[in-house]
Amino acid sequence: MTEEITLPTAPGFLWGASTAAHQIEGGNVNSDWWAKEHVAGTLCAESSGDAVDSYHRYPEDVRLLADAGLNAYRFSIEWARVEPAEGEISRAQLAHYRRMIDACLEAGVTPVVTLLHFTLPRWFAERGGWFAPDAVDAFSRYVEAATQILGDVGHVVTINEPNITSMMLGASRRTNLDAAGLAAPDQAASEIQATAHRRAVEILHGLGHVRAGWTIANQVFQAAPGAEAARDAYAYPREDFFLEVARGDDFVGVQSYLRTIIGADGEPVPFGDDVEKTLTGWEYYPQALGEALEYTHRITGGVPMIVTENGMATADDARRIDYTRGALEAMARAMAGGCHVEGYLHWSLLDNYEWMSGFAPTFGLVAVDRTTFERTPKPSLAWLGEVARTGKLPA
Ligand code: NOJ
Repeated sequence: MTEEITLPTAPGFLWGASTAAHQIEGGNVNSDWWAKEHVAGTLCAESSGDAVDSYHRYPEDVRLLADAGLNAYRFSIEWARVEPAEGEISRAQLAHYRRMIDACLEAGVTPVVTLLHFTLPRWFAERGGWFAPDAVDAFSRYVEAATQILGDVGHVVTINEPNITSMMLGASRRTNLDAAGLAAPDQAASEIQATAHRRAVEILHGLGHVRAGWTIANQVFQAAPGAEAARDAYAYPREDFFLEVARGDDFVGVQSYLRTIIGADGEPVPFGDDVEKTLTGWEYYPQALGEALEYTHRITGGVPMIVTENGMATADDARRIDYTRGALEAMARAMAGGCHVEGYLHWSLLDNYEWMSGFAPTFGLVAVDRTTFERTPKPSLAWLGEVARTGKLPA
């Protein structure tokens, strides 16, 4: 017998989906990632190119989400468009993002606006990115500029997954190498991002109506038998540091896909061939979401949470629905156990550009034809809409 799950319904709870500018807009030519895609010997499988042309097609995307019964859309503003050259703020690009916000509001959809989702303006990256001496000032100026269009926006994410950025910077700077030559997250990058986040929160609070937070890649570090201390040491710089920064913020974004088991040697334990894997090569483990929520609740001391990302890359949409059902069951149990969750935003609304892996791993509730950009909703979109309306998990 399957247990009867009851979840909160829209509009009291945010039910929706997430995207990020570089992954869906197309033509993000002033960003560091675009440069990375086009450098000789790039590690990216392909260029983001036109992505899924959401820069022009966002009205349709918002409509698809709203028509399904969802009431929240998380998307990001692209710093590289808003400030294509240092100190030059583009009014036209700000106006573009304001139109996106308006499209949401007119459709009864709550916009959840991310200010920085991985990609940096090329000029900022070329000056050293987060390691430039005035990095925090530069980011703060961009945040100030963005406040011009945040009227009526209640939820703002300052920085997406700063813990992943620190890990990537650790790898590129080859800091704290372990015996196997693997890099730990770069602590300086973690601290700079924490300062940038705090300054951004202050600026956003100046508006009076914005609740601000950052989103963390919650990796559900489990300990192999007897490896608790090794697991805790592994988790601290990768996750706990960032969750502690979120203490006292208005909300924290929980982004859960998988778990990682840490062995007594302090290294991740590879999973066996018998484990079901998603198109990103991750273990199929939907219950990670419940564990991520409980852990975040504990480390942040009960800061309100929004699930700002959760999903799986698969070509089999029925399996996506199974995954989401499992994740939502786990979320319902965590909520019954005292976790304060205000929303669930699925990754992703659209099949899109999955960074180094290109377009092959499909996370979307909506399929996109790669040549015509035609959108085709998958059954999972209607399924999630029904959850939002009824609070029940349809068979
Ligand atoms: C986290 C990131 O925020 C997003 O950009 C990415 O596509 C998904 N996870 C899936 O890997």
